[in-house]
Amino acid sequence: MKVVGLVGWRGMVGSVLMQRMQEEGDFDHIEAVFFSTSNKGGKAPAIAKKETTLQDANDLEALKKCDIIITCQGGDYTTEIFPQLRAAGWDGYWIDAASTLRMKDDAVIVLDPVNQNVIKDALNRGVKNYIGGNCTNSILLMGVGGLFKEGLVEWVSSMTYQAASGGGANHMRELLSGMGVVHGAVANELATPSSAILDIDRKVAEAIRKDVPTEFFGAPLAGGLIPWIDAQLENGQSKEEWKGQAEVNKILGNTQVIPVDGLCVRIGAMRCHSLALTIKLKRDLPLAEIETIIRSANPWVKWVPNERAVTVQELTPAAITGGLEIGVGRVRKLNQGPEYISAFVIGDQLLWGAAEPLRRMLRIILG
Ligand code: HSE
Repeated sequence: MKVVGLVGWRGMVGSVLMQRMQEEGDFDHIEAVFFSTSNKGGKAPAIAKKETTLQDANDLEALKKCDIIITCQGGDYTTEIFPQLRAAGWDGYWIDAASTLRMKDDAVIVLDPVNQNVIKDALNRGVKNYIGGNCTNSILLMGVGGLFKEGLVEWVSSMTYQAASGGGANHMRELLSGMGVVHGAVANELATPSSAILDIDRKVAEAIRKDVPTEFFGAPLAGGLIPWIDAQLENGQSKEEWKGQAEVNKILGNTQVIPVDGLCVRIGAMRCHSLALTIKLKRDLPLAEIETIIRSANPWVKWVPNERAVTVQELTPAAITGGLEIGVGRVRKLNQGPEYISAFVIGDQLLWGAAEPLRRMLRIILG
């Protein structure tokens, strides 16, 4: 059995990964070794068969004993440890949730329902670094990857609505605390049906400006939105927006770049990222054909007909959160012309957006 080291398994993405690995019986196929940056010698989770104590995640010798390492520890850990480990001659498979290595030539971004061919190719060439994609891009491609696969996409405008979980656990807590602050500011008035709505609104606005916590997001998210995610680049894009084109084309292994761009916006959802897409197709296709192509691309596409009643029930974070389905709906032709279509894609940011591609890559390596 392959020895698989798990690093960062206690964090949010790591916990989702652990849960999915247990659900899918992945631990039956590996000898798991659990690492910790802070609790060496502590007790490993019960699922560990041989090595029942936690190993030091900074100990190169301990890491070198692994055939495969999966890390959700974050970019700083990867930046620090990965080069040392390779320099020390370790030749195992490195599967990573962090973005650090994503765009490196010797790394593949993994999303096997979409780019199995790219992954297989890389395995045959001896590539050892397999990195999970940015959550928004993975959800985009799980949703409308069929159109890319058929070579139908000329360009994509991608406007996103990204959940708090993309920032991390603290960000989710901050969103919820903020919601409580907003409610608390007008709880009495809400309990009194005769109170004036504009008074309520004024108090809410004041609470949002002054009292909603902003430590992690840097701006109030509860009751609002933040139209910027990640660092500012010189060309005016946010780093999150830059990743769209760079990663989508790398995931697909494109030699000719398909333009992907748009604005990334943080909204007050917990863990579902959504994208409102405008797609310019290379030719005018009947909607029924477009539907067939999107639906048949992978088993996780949840097609939602472009009708109001079903859309407001099924194409929402409430419906999608916590599951592997990727909702795709609002697909229609736009006024811009017959080659222009809209689509709304929504998925759980912690599943296909983070943990799931990693455990699937593990299974691919195990064969
Ligand atoms: N960068 C993403 C976000 C999450 O902030 O929503 C990680 O892919």
